[in-house]
Amino acid sequence: MKSWKRTGFTALAAGTALGCMALLGGCGIKGEKRIVRISHAQSETHPEHLGLLKFKAYIEEKLGDKYEVQIYPNELLGGAQKAIELTQTGAIDFVVAGTANLENFADVYEVFSMPYLFTSEDAYHEVMNDTEYMEQVYESTDEAGFRVLTWYNAGTRSFYAKKPINTPDDLRGLKMRVQQSPASVNMCNAFGAAASPMSFGEVYTAIQQGVIDGAENNELALTNNKHGEVAKYYSYNKHQMVPDMLIGNLKFLQGLSDEEYAIFREAALLSTKEEMQYWDEQVEEAKRIAGEEMGVEFIDVDVEIFKDKVSDVQQEMLDENENIRDLYAYIQSVNEKYAGAAAGGSAAAGDAADHTQKGE
Ligand code: GCU
Repeated sequence: MKSWKRTGFTALAAGTALGCMALLGGCGIKGEKRIVRISHAQSETHPEHLGLLKFKAYIEEKLGDKYEVQIYPNELLGGAQKAIELTQTGAIDFVVAGTANLENFADVYEVFSMPYLFTSEDAYHEVMNDTEYMEQVYESTDEAGFRVLTWYNAGTRSFYAKKPINTPDDLRGLKMRVQQSPASVNMCNAFGAAASPMSFGEVYTAIQQGVIDGAENNELALTNNKHGEVAKYYSYNKHQMVPDMLIGNLKFLQGLSDEEYAIFREAALLSTKEEMQYWDEQVEEAKRIAGEEMGVEFIDVDVEIFKDKVSDVQQEMLDENENIRDLYAYIQSVNEKYAGAAAGGSAAAGDAADHTQKGE
């Protein structure tokens, strides 16, 4: 059921003790209970926080005599990269972070940074919900001391800026924030912009102060993270669907009994279901608030022109990184299934991109 690669733990264990002492005054033992700490970057109304509340409730319902789950939102324990390091050393137990942050630990995760990888939301969800397939991917960071337990929907990413972007030409010369990963930088530069990698929490001030011209993200960034206060044009070029991951310290997971592990895993899957239930309605609400109360203009661009601009990127990435090829091929097979369904069985996979945004 849980197959662990038992490598590289001695150094991590030493780091764990130091990290715990420095950060939170002890390694999570309170009275008789083991405190389980989770860090994430979103607000307390964000679907991920609501999903994590479900995770907490399920674990405390089943194992409440032994574990208390504490959730730290809003990058309270640091930005994604810092929080992953804390999870790696065991100073905290879980973190939610986008796959871009995992690329430096396991380069299979680069695949999610490919522009226009998934050609429909249905394909995206099916791939990510294939727990059996994804388990092999999740094991890829075992040597780094952590493992993904489940994924969360983080919608579709598009560019937004202080000025309107209608075509890739409008991106030329603009400094656009991307997540801190080489593939994200390449993706953004391929569109003709000047990629500026930085942590999520720094984006608002960077746009406000004119250090960057804009960024790219799902619609919730406009409201939950208030970016709509400083960037008034959101262009639906829909270049990526990048999942967030619930990542657990491997030593902690290994220390669980089989029964406890099954409960943590079930809690993780339930948290994904819960998170996804809120996603679409929160995106609609974010669009309403951003449009009506923050004065953000949503621009429907010709997605095909944006796709053409980066049409070589997928192949270049495949040539450079053999570790993404299997997952890429699997994703293409699922893409094709939905492309066929959307066009009565006759469309090529690439034709399906524009039915991606349900309800638009
Ligand atoms: C989204 C995503 C986060 C990510 C952020 C970013 O909000 O859910 O995990 O950190 O984008 O662009 O950094």
